[in-house]
Amino acid sequence: MEPRPGEDKPHLPPPSLWPVGFAIGVVCILVGLIISWAAVAVGAAVTVIFGFLWVRDVTSEYRRTDVGIVEAPGGPESARGGAPPIPAHKGEAAMPEPEPGERFPRSVFLENATLGLGAVIGGIVTVPVLGFAIAPMFQHQHHEEIDLGPITNFKEGDFVVATFLSNPSEGEISRRTAYVRNNGFLSGKPSFTILSNRCAHLGCPVQPNGPVFDTRKVDEKTKDGEVSLTPTLPAGGFGCPCHGGQYDTEGNRTAGPPVRALDRYEFYIRNGRLALGHTYSVSKVVGSGASAKIKKYRATDPGEHVDGLEQLFYPLQPPH
Ligand code: FES
Repeated sequence: MEPRPGEDKPHLPPPSLWPVGFAIGVVCILVGLIISWAAVAVGAAVTVIFGFLWVRDVTSEYRRTDVGIVEAPGGPESARGGAPPIPAHKGEAAMPEPEPGERFPRSVFLENATLGLGAVIGGIVTVPVLGFAIAPMFQHQHHEEIDLGPITNFKEGDFVVATFLSNPSEGEISRRTAYVRNNGFLSGKPSFTILSNRCAHLGCPVQPNGPVFDTRKVDEKTKDGEVSLTPTLPAGGFGCPCHGGQYDTEGNRTAGPPVRALDRYEFYIRNGRLALGHTYSVSKVVGSGASAKIKKYRATDPGEHVDGLEQLFYPLQPPH
């Protein structure tokens, strides 16, 4: 800042808390984009209010109309020994007339140029980062339903190992495995248990603790690519080869390091065909089959608790 007339040092604005409030508002917006629109609204309000106060603070020097009027110690009267004030139109000019061509001083130009350059560099650095952080929130991240074929391919009471393309446009690299059991009917509607094979410890593929009948494998051509269905008899539930995690046939953890039950797939019946939806995480399943009571949570990464106090120790996750 330029020193004001009569001051030796530049006049700097006092420390302000407005930037801190502004930053908190921005953080609130970013977190809100992950957890809820209400938080976005609160963050936006905080950002606007503190941004306004900050800008007002920063520009207060420019908006002051008394710049150039300097009071002598003891007040304006004492500067002239208590004499009455001189009318403005009769006193000396407070500032010399600007030289022709110097209406915009070089120091002001340099000050504004520095601020402008800083803003441009800040924008170049910040905008891409913000774009990458925020854009995924607005992209279509939901997978389409995956057709697994006619429900008649799933014998009631038996598990099959189903492999399918979770994203047909990506081809074989998106092939996934689920353990599917037809539970019969519940209140007149077909019921299925569809377990993800991703271990809830660190994500290794869990295996059936029982025989897999490869000779009875069925390959089904669907609109979403080839689906293979292989009957299995996981009498001992499912086991993870990596660190020995064990699950029962409902996907509940029974031993080892996994922190929760196996994830499950939502499912739909479309014209007599079974379709998979999103995965969701499960803390625990009470009961079994069609009458099971499932504590369902948003899909969460392996190794993370979804309930209890432990869930607070994991970072927020963007939508899967
Ligand atoms: S990844 Fe399955 S027990 Fe560790």
